[in-house]
Order: sequence, then C-alpha cells, then structure tokens
Amino acid sequence: MILMKDIIREGNVVLRTKCEEVPIPLSPEDEQTIKDMIEYLFQSQDEDVAKKYNLRPGVGLAAPQIGVCKKMLVILAYDEKGDSHFYPMINPKLVSYSEEKTYLDSGEGCLSVDRDVKGYVHRAKRVTVETYIYSTEKIMKVRLRLKNYIAVVFQHEYDHLNGILFVDHINKTNPFEIVPNSTPVDFGQDH
Ligand code: NI
Repeated sequence: MILMKDIIREGNVVLRTKCEEVPIPLSPEDEQTIKDMIEYLFQSQDEDVAKKYNLRPGVGLAAPQIGVCKKMLVILAYDEKGDSHFYPMINPKLVSYSEEKTYLDSGEGCLSVDRDVKGYVHRAKRVTVETYIYSTEKIMKVRLRLKNYIAVVFQHEYDHLNGILFVDHINKTNPFEIVPNSTPVDFGQDH
C-alpha cells in the first residue's frame, strides 16, 4: 500500500516531467500502479484507515506523485451536489474546455505540496475529456463531460501529467485576483 513516505514531494524532478502514454492493454506493472493509486484514495478517505496509517485524505492522485511518470490519474470525489465520482483514467486527453472559469474559494491543496499556499487557481468551469477508464474486467474508452468541482479536480490532476503544480497558476503579486468570467464553485450553505 502507498503511504505518505511514498508520495513524491515538491522539489522532485518527477513532478516537473511530462508523462508518457501508457500502452493498452496494460502491462501487469502499470495495472498494479493504477490499483495502488485507487487503493490510496479509498483508504485515505476512510477515517479509521487514514488515522491508523497517517494518510492525508486525497480526492485525486496522479501517477507521478508516486514516482511513475505515466499518464494515469484517479479521481474519487463528491461533487458540489453530493454525487460521487470515481474515474480511474489512463491516457486522459483534455479535448475541449469552456471559456467560463471557476475556482475554489478555499484554494487548492496537493498531497505533493506540504506548504499551505494561499490564492485562487482559476480553471475551466467545464471540460470534455477522452480517456480510457480502468476496471478489473475491461478497459473502456469514454468521453466525459465534467463540470464545477470535478472539473477542477480533473484539471489539477491532469496538470500533474504535464509537470505542472497548482501553485504555478496562482498570481504571485495578487493571489486572490479574480479573473474575468470566473465564479467560485458553489458548494451550497453547509459545506
Ligand atoms: Ni496534486
């Protein structure tokens, strides 16, 4: 299982490297990598397991964060309406995105970034993604339309595959600048 000591931190060149395509069908090694990533997210969101192993909860994880420079990422998150999303992606491709932007009021965080970096990260409010979705039975190619919070999580993880970290997007002189055509993700009142 992946522990916090296995998570690659800011400063490591792996996080600044463009990742390679993954051959389909998956090699046993690549399949193990995505299985490990899936397991980490589920376990990190399980309070008891997270406490026992001191795991920082994550809603997304990209392969370079565990030292594998390949195009794989996993999303396990609830959207702003409380619906659950689980996407183990192989070779995801961002095919289109909206001009309209969104951002998280609370800013973004990352398992690979230990410092608390304040500021807004503006991202496309809607994205269309073409990707293979992993399952133990079958790998399927799909086209997904993601919006709001899940679109933010996707773009954060997708950036990792291109050597980009969320901190890169924050305006250094004006971290809380709100760019034109951008509204925060609306989590409702009780979030
Ligand atoms: Ni991250």
